[in-house]
Amino acid sequence: MAEELTISNGTKEERYAELVPQIQSVIADEPDSIANMANVAAMLWQTFHWWWTGFYRVQDNMLVLGPFQGPLACTRIRKGKGVCGTAWQKDETLVVPDVEQFPGHIACSSASRSEIVVPIHNAEGRVTAVLDIDSDQLNAFDDTDRLWLERIAALMK
Ligand code: SME
Repeated sequence: MAEELTISNGTKEERYAELVPQIQSVIADEPDSIANMANVAAMLWQTFHWWWTGFYRVQDNMLVLGPFQGPLACTRIRKGKGVCGTAWQKDETLVVPDVEQFPGHIACSSASRSEIVVPIHNAEGRVTAVLDIDSDQLNAFDDTDRLWLERIAALMK
């Protein structure tokens, strides 16, 4: 696997384009999904320095906190609750420009202002986890993030 992440100081699009092949090479030969989530959370954080970057895994019909980079977070989220539980229930990416405008948003951190949540699927198409990223800036995520984070989610099991 790659020893060190190398990302140049380009645009967001350029940084994603450099990041994705490095994620592919790091996770390609590792079957353990927790190990891969841990490295992907680290690599995303190293590239973009968001406030909170991590995973919730579907366990016994709940989302349970998985590997992440950032401050302490809620451990369990019910289906349909918060941005994460809604993205899981609807099975779609949610981009929330202002978390205060999202009914039922779960404020793990009062510093969080905007958020994107991307479902991750297994080979049968079931949601097995979500990738959750929070920013301390309003309106931090757009269609570029959606596109590239969905590509990253598709690499994961
Ligand atoms: N804000 C999320 C909860 C998870 S934390 O932000 C890490 C939500 O509403 O689902």
